[in-house]
Amino acid sequence: MRQSRKLDHLKYTLALADGPATNAFADFTLLHNCLPGIAWADVSLATTVAGIPLRHPVIINAITGGAPDVTAINADLAALAKRTGAAMAVGSQYAAFEDAAVRRSYQIVREINPGGVLFANLGAHATPDQAAAAVAMIKADAIQIHLNAAQELAMAEGDRDFTGYLANIAAIAAASPVPVIVKEVGCGVAREQAAALAGAGVRAIDVGGAGGTNFVAIEAARNAAALPPETLAWGIPTAVSAVEAASVLPPAVDLIVSGGIRSPLDAVKSLALGGRAVAVAAPAVRILQDEGLEAAVAWFDAFLRELRRYMLLVGARSVGALAAVPLVITGWSREWLTQRGIDTSRFARAGR
Ligand SMILES: Cc1cc2nc3c(=O)[nH]c(=O)nc-3n(C[C@H](O)[C@H](O)[C@H](O)COP(=O)(O)O)c2cc1C
Repeated sequence: MRQSRKLDHLKYTLALADGPATNAFADFTLLHNCLPGIAWADVSLATTVAGIPLRHPVIINAITGGAPDVTAINADLAALAKRTGAAMAVGSQYAAFEDAAVRRSYQIVREINPGGVLFANLGAHATPDQAAAAVAMIKADAIQIHLNAAQELAMAEGDRDFTGYLANIAAIAAASPVPVIVKEVGCGVAREQAAALAGAGVRAIDVGGAGGTNFVAIEAARNAAALPPETLAWGIPTAVSAVEAASVLPPAVDLIVSGGIRSPLDAVKSLALGGRAVAVAAPAVRILQDEGLEAAVAWFDAFLRELRRYMLLVGARSVGALAAVPLVITGWSREWLTQRGIDTSRFARAGR
C-alpha cells in the first residue's frame, strides 16, 4: 500500500496543476533600486540553515523514496543536487522501517552525492530512535519532520489522531544528533504554531504554504473522490505564512519558505521576508521526468542566475542583506496580516 502510494504521488504530481489556492506572492512587490551600488560579482548566494552552510538558498524539498521503482528518481534528484550545489531532502523514510529492502531507495542519494547537504524526513509521530535511525540511514545533516494533517484526512488510509505532536517533536529535537526542521506540506504554518514549534527546540521551520503542490487534491485524485473547491483551497498561502512565521521566530530558528515557489522572483521575495532559504519540490521532479537531467541542471542554474539578478537590482549583496530591502505588501495579504496584528508598513521601509 505504502509503496504504491509513493508512485501515485509522483503520477498525480505530474498530472495536476498547482493550487487552486495561490501562493499570494502577487501581493508582494520588491522595490527596484536604480542605484544598487554593487557589482554582479559582489552578490553572494551563500546562506546558512539551522547552522548548516549552504552554497545557495534553493533547497530541493522532500519528494520520494520507499519503493524500488522510485530509486531512479532519487538518483536523478541527487545528481541534480550535486551538480547545482543544492541541499536536498529525501521523502518520508517510514517505509524503510517497515521494509528494509527499500532502504536503498533513500541511500542512493548519499551514494551519488557523498559530500552534499542532505535532510532526512519522517512524520511527527516518529520516535526519537526512529529519527536517529533515519539520519544514520543517509548520513543526514538535518532531519525534517513533516506535518500534513489535511493530507492525512484526505487519505482513506490516513491518520485520524493528531494528538501529542508538539511534545513528540520536542522529544525528537532534544535527542536528535542533527538539527530538526519542521515542515508543512502545502497548508502553511500560522504564527501561533510557529512560536510553539520554536519553543519545542526545532532549528528551522519550513512553512510549506498553500499555492503549490496540493496534497489534498492529489489524495482526492487517488481516491477518485470529488472534493468541493473550498476543501481544495484550504491552507495559508505561502507568502502570508512566511510573514506569520517570521513575525515570531527567534534568531536561533531559521525560516525556510516553500509551497509553490515557482520563479526566482518568488524566491527573492521569500528571502526578503526573512527566509534563510526556499525549497522547491514538484518543479524539480517535473523537469527531470519530462526533459532529463541536463535540462534540469540548466533550469536550476538559470533560476540561481535570475535570483542573483534580482538581488543586484535591489542592491542586496547577500541573503541577509535582502531582509533589509523595502518590500510593499498590498491587497488581500495586507488585509490578512493587518487583521492578524502584523504591521505590514514596516516591510516597506529601507533598513526595516
Ligand atoms: C511526489 C511528492 C512526494 C512528496 N513526499 C513528501 C514526503 O514524503 N515528505 C514530505 O515532508 N514532503 C513530501 N512532499 C512535499 C514537498 O516536500 C513540498 O512540501 C510540497 O510539494 C510543496 O512544495 P512544491 O509546491 O514546490 O511542490 C512531496 C512532494 C511531492 C511532489
